[in-house]
Amino acid sequence: MTPVCTIEKASGIGLNTEFVRELFPVFSQEPDLIFFDNAATTQKPQSVIEAMNRFYTSSCANAGRASYRWSTQAANAIEESRKSIAAFLNAASEDLVFTSGATDSLNLLALSWGLKNLQEGDEILLCPQDHKSAVLPWYNVAAILKDRGINVTIKEFAIHEVGDYDLKTIKEAVSDRTRLIAMSHIHHVFGLDMEVPEIRQIVGPNVAISLDASQSMGHIPFDISQLDVDFVSFSGHKMFAANGVGVLWVKPSRQNELQTIRTGGGVNLTNTLRATFEAGTPNIPAIISLKPAVEFLSALGMDKVEAHVSELTKKLYAGLKDLPGLEFAPGPGVCGCPGGNGIIAFRFEQVSSSDLSFLLDSENIFIRANDHCLAKRGEGDDFMRASLHLYNSADEIDQFLAVLSENI
Ligand SMILES: Cc1ncc(COP(=O)(O)O)c(C=O)c1O
Repeated sequence: MTPVCTIEKASGIGLNTEFVRELFPVFSQEPDLIFFDNAATTQKPQSVIEAMNRFYTSSCANAGRASYRWSTQAANAIEESRKSIAAFLNAASEDLVFTSGATDSLNLLALSWGLKNLQEGDEILLCPQDHKSAVLPWYNVAAILKDRGINVTIKEFAIHEVGDYDLKTIKEAVSDRTRLIAMSHIHHVFGLDMEVPEIRQIVGPNVAISLDASQSMGHIPFDISQLDVDFVSFSGHKMFAANGVGVLWVKPSRQNELQTIRTGGGVNLTNTLRATFEAGTPNIPAIISLKPAVEFLSALGMDKVEAHVSELTKKLYAGLKDLPGLEFAPGPGVCGCPGGNGIIAFRFEQVSSSDLSFLLDSENIFIRANDHCLAKRGEGDDFMRASLHLYNSADEIDQFLAVLSENI
């Protein structure tokens, strides 16, 4: 089965990057900075920083633990944020749990669902070239279950040489013992968006799909009602909100399959997700920061953000492809798609990626090289990855390409 490239995005819309950059204090402090590591984290707009500052400077209280107004305000602000982020995914707010990030969401899911549901002989499908945070929690659950005398098999499927999942290997791995498939929505190194509907078709209606949306949320329009998946995980800091907040979305029909794994203050074992899974004092300012982050993205328009990033990827690909000694990693460079999701990985024959990334740093260009947190180290790790977002511009790509040409 040949994977289908799905990254031919709408083109020519573009964002006014001068206007966008003015909304980010970092770019007035560091006007020459070229930040091409947005798959790792994003810079923060003023509105996000202000929301956090406001909490600490004028209404710092624990949420809902007391009856005075700051405490009530904090509790209300958390629920307002939950509504905002839910609307952003077109989900119901009661189906979201706040976590500390995608890694926390993926671990919470693996432990709370896996320990309760997996039985002797069951199978989990995953891709060893996905991010460690999406893969290792399932090996952890399998090890815990093994200690209890329950053998769960982890079956691996592959990335095709073009950068999409190799659907043939999913077809071969799926069986009537498959209980869950863990997959990414957009791959964090190879940059393609994966075929969720085709994968649903292959695994059938009863296999749970855990979708790691860390690289899609805030990058492309995301509508949960259009994705037939069971669990969605992502981090706030990769979509312009603060560090220390993430989300786990759970399909309503799966919610009673999750068991509590952490308990403490605030927990009330009713059947709401929030009351069951959000133990302890939440990271209030980080949670609050999600609301201005999604307001910012919605004001720009996710269609425009997607088209802008796609145009930039196309330009970057066109400039890179003729550089001497360049080899693309799987992804837009290899599959030849005229667009992309902002992520392109590549390396040069004549210079190591880490040496080149140090050199780029001295030119104020920040780009990731080497360890990309692939669960299986090896192919992929010695590539450098450019990851673009809405404040990046065509001029920055030209400057980047010029510095590369001079130094390879
Ligand atoms: C695809 C993917 N999944 C999960 C994560 C983990 O995110 P966090 O470190 O914010 O928990 C990342 C971070 O790079 C990622 O790219």
